[in-house]
Amino acid sequence: PHLVVAVDGPAAAGKTTTCKALSRRFGLGYLESGRTYRIIAFEALRRGLPPDNPVNVVDLCDELLRESREQDLLTSGRYGSADLRSPSVNVAVSDVARIHELRKRVTELVRLWARHQGRCIVEGRDIGTVVFPAAPVKFYLTASPEERARRRLGQEGGASYEEVLADVVRRDEADMSRAVSPLVPADDAIVIDTTTMDLEEVLARMGAACER
Ligand code: CDP
Repeated sequence: PHLVVAVDGPAAAGKTTTCKALSRRFGLGYLESGRTYRIIAFEALRRGLPPDNPVNVVDLCDELLRESREQDLLTSGRYGSADLRSPSVNVAVSDVARIHELRKRVTELVRLWARHQGRCIVEGRDIGTVVFPAAPVKFYLTASPEERARRRLGQEGGASYEEVLADVVRRDEADMSRAVSPLVPADDAIVIDTTTMDLEEVLARMGAACER
């Protein structure tokens, strides 16, 4: 049967780590939708296109879809974290993610992927609110900006704590204030503030909700 577990939340709240662990434990497919937004931001910068220009960015997305298989834009291993998590991509991805026409395309790709998977867990910013509003299990993971910056430290090159914190706060603001698909918990999401929780506690809470 078709089953989607939707996991949303701000930057570095622990979505990827917990989703990967849950996907193994329950034998679910796993997809990180932020990766697609990052691939498009990276390719825009590489080609010298302005990441905040809707026409350029949507054309780029269509070109990438023509050139490659749809899977590539979702899960390609061709891009390393040095490519996708650079400071310039961190900035450009907020612009790209504001483009409504692009979000519609990514939403369709993710839905198609999920239909083929059957049972899966998908993480992002709008998964429980926009992409899969009928998902039977939804989580919203969060933590204080300071704790999230501590967790992210060391994952993004040689950036300092202050730089990582500033980026987390800037992306929170961008994601929560944009006109299309702003980051908010779905009405029926289980909100977990992980500031003072360790990974095992978070997984126990999420696992219990998935078993119901
Ligand atoms: O891993 P991290 O939390 O830093 O971010 P990500 O999941 O890689 O997502 C990168 C960016 O893509 C976010 O800052 C959002 O602006 C955007 N995004 C989005 O708008 N909608 C999604 N479903 C996923 C990501």
